[in-house]
Amino acid sequence: MKILITGNMGYVGTAVVKHLRSAFPDATLVGYDMAYFASSLQGSSAILPESRLDQQIFGDVRNMPAEVLDNVNAVVHLAAIGGDVAEHKYGVVTQDVNYTASIRVAELAKAVGVESFVFASSCSLYGTEEESERTEHSDLKPVSADARTKLAAEIDLEPLAGDGFSVTCLRFPAACGMSDRLRPGLLLNDFVGEALATGNLNIVGNGAAWQPLIHVADLARAVEWAVTREAADGGEYLVVNAGFNDWNFRVYELARAVAYALPGITLNFSGGEVAEEASCPICFDFYQALAPDHQPQYSLQQAIAELCEGYKPIVAQSWHQDSPLQNRAMFLNKLQQLGALDEQLRWAHQKSTVRRESVLEIID
Ligand SMILES: NC(=O)c1ccc[n+]([C@@H]2O[C@H](COP(=O)([O-])OP(=O)(O)OC[C@H]3O[C@@H](n4cnc5c(N)ncnc54)[C@H](O)[C@@H]3O)[C@@H](O)[C@H]2O)c1
Repeated sequence: MKILITGNMGYVGTAVVKHLRSAFPDATLVGYDMAYFASSLQGSSAILPESRLDQQIFGDVRNMPAEVLDNVNAVVHLAAIGGDVAEHKYGVVTQDVNYTASIRVAELAKAVGVESFVFASSCSLYGTEEESERTEHSDLKPVSADARTKLAAEIDLEPLAGDGFSVTCLRFPAACGMSDRLRPGLLLNDFVGEALATGNLNIVGNGAAWQPLIHVADLARAVEWAVTREAADGGEYLVVNAGFNDWNFRVYELARAVAYALPGITLNFSGGEVAEEASCPICFDFYQALAPDHQPQYSLQQAIAELCEGYKPIVAQSWHQDSPLQNRAMFLNKLQQLGALDEQLRWAHQKSTVRRESVLEIID
């Protein structure tokens, strides 16, 4: 089996590659990424995450050459401009990467005979403040640019499914937990970082908002399931909330769990209600029925304990909330200020040639 993982050098991708390598030791794993955050290696591992791959390709999904898909059986499509960046000043780029390129990669994949296309979608599509659990049949009200592009992609992926090409849209809640490329800005990760660095945990509002989560390693197991699922398990086009019912938390529960793990920190709630983009519990019954062998292995307490351990060197070096290291948008801005990235988030030195943009291989 040959699996192409786009966006493999991000927070989720790094964990997905690690898991796929252990789940499929004999598979050929190929990574494809712009490497925006390649230098943000914050885990405790001494191993370069990409060394688990058979091949790393530095490239842009906006113009991925078809030959990258030669003999590929499954594509795990993670490459995307994430929430904090999408909301910043990169609306057009977000549309191009998250929507247009996703459809193009899927079309190319189908044309060359790829059997399985796994799309990293999001529970932020529900975008609503409801107390009742959202199922796959609930109304969709995406609020953020990121969520809107994910919905547009889901819609246009549906007609591509069929004739031996299965599409699985995994709607993930917010991820959390240690990865060799930690994304400290995500809620639980941020809580642990702030608490460790400052001795305080300041919660805006009363903490009553819902925050469904998934540990990044459990997310990777859902990807493993999707890569190999039979079309009979959900059909050739499948949309499923990929997570676990008992990981529907309220923000105050998460804050208290962090405070419990770090005795001595001060927990402050600013009071009042805060409108959250997607503050609703999610129903994961369908995923439980489809993938009973890929249910969570992590507990919240384990996730927090690992984060506390993983954060130690980060906090010692440089933790502060507004650091480019914590925030994807600020990090990309910094790369632009340095002249490394242009306005379209293309590497400045690669403007002249599509070939170089796509096939500079470091590990083969
Ligand atoms: N992290 C979460 O909480 C979460 C929740 C739901 C869904 N998702 C989805 O999972 C996927 C991965 O999320 P993440 O948290 O790892 O994000 P991330 O920002 O850490 O990683 C995204 C990766 O995509 C790469 N990338 C961006 N534009 C690219 C392009 N044009 N060509 C090639 N590579 C490009 C980046 O270099 C980066 O390595 C995304 O699709 C995201 O929408 C994430």
